Amino acid sequence: MHEIPLVDLARQYQSIKHEIDTVIQRVLEKGIFVLGENVQKFEEEFSRYCGVRYGIGVNSATDALTIALKAVGVKEGDEVLVPANSFIATANVVVFCGATPVFVDVEPDTLNMDPEKAVRAITKKTKAIIPVHLHGHPADMDPLLEAAEDHDLAVIEDVAQAINALYKGKKVGSLGDIGCFSFYPSKNLGAYGDGGLNVTDNDELAERIRLLRNYGRIEKEYKQTYVHRLIGYNSRLDELQAAILRLKLTYLDGWTDRKREISKEYTKGFEGSDVEAPTEKEYARHVYWDYCIKVKARDALEKALLDKGIHTAVLYRVPIHLQEAYAYMGLKEGSFPVAEMTCRHILSLPLFPELTEEEIQFVITQVKNMVGGLP
Ligand SMILES: Cc1ncc(COP(=O)(O)O)c(C=O)c1O
Repeated sequence: MHEIPLVDLARQYQSIKHEIDTVIQRVLEKGIFVLGENVQKFEEEFSRYCGVRYGIGVNSATDALTIALKAVGVKEGDEVLVPANSFIATANVVVFCGATPVFVDVEPDTLNMDPEKAVRAITKKTKAIIPVHLHGHPADMDPLLEAAEDHDLAVIEDVAQAINALYKGKKVGSLGDIGCFSFYPSKNLGAYGDGGLNVTDNDELAERIRLLRNYGRIEKEYKQTYVHRLIGYNSRLDELQAAILRLKLTYLDGWTDRKREISKEYTKGFEGSDVEAPTEKEYARHVYWDYCIKVKARDALEKALLDKGIHTAVLYRVPIHLQEAYAYMGLKEGSFPVAEMTCRHILSLPLFPELTEEEIQFVITQVKNMVGGLP
């Protein structure tokens, strides 16, 4: 068997090459590269897709989160609840605003913020909660939204890994005050470079985000004059990426269905083995950005699979609070036991819509054989 990558974006490109080349060519011929009609149309199409009124394209999910926190007024001295198990950007954005990230341990099955622990972490200084829908599985939003309502907190959803996932039938990103999306190339909807987007139903927040992403400038007057209402960023989704994303959005439902099918095939294949397959709660529609299993001897399995040409990933190997970058907070091992446990046992297997049946079966067989024989 040939090498099986974790994700293969070249295969995806080959499957839609002609259409992609055409939309790129059109942008080049038109000669408008920043805040053109593709950005505007993509914002409309994407927000409709998510069931919200406003979409504002930005440079990345990191920027989307930073701008969202600024838009709701997070500032020095504030606290923001973030899951102890996430990509480091979720915590960094809080620090960028001068506020303090307060880590909350996660649920052992969904690997998302544990709502009961979140409620216990709320103090007088808490200003916002950032639930992350990690691996593509929605966080349990209702208790978090209820706590936010009771304590007057903003809810900023980190949807970087979960576009198109549903919580009780509603698209994630549409549940809190602002949803923050990533179009990093390997995401379920990936650009050919960085990209991100904020969605919101709130008129005032939409207006503030629009200003913040473009130097605080009043866009309507862009052509005539330079009028700046706020001190804003340069964080715009660019026109080429928007054109690519508009096309890819039309494929997203099909790609998501295929990833769900492959994930179910994996789960069925691992029945009766020592592999703990990812869960899908009754309230959730999981979109499997990655297929994340738990196994006892994770490092040995990772190495054994690589020897067979199967590429895997560990998202994440070190929890945020134990990263060198966060050593200043003085949080020790044992502070968030569930997040720490997942870091030792999780492993993401190859998953992308173009995986062949032969590759899927090869992965299942190798994982099952190896797990049985590992220490
Ligand atoms: C959960 C989570 N939040 C935020 C980000 C940051 O996204 P971006 O790379 O678009 O800045 C990522 C990226 O992988 C992510 O996985």
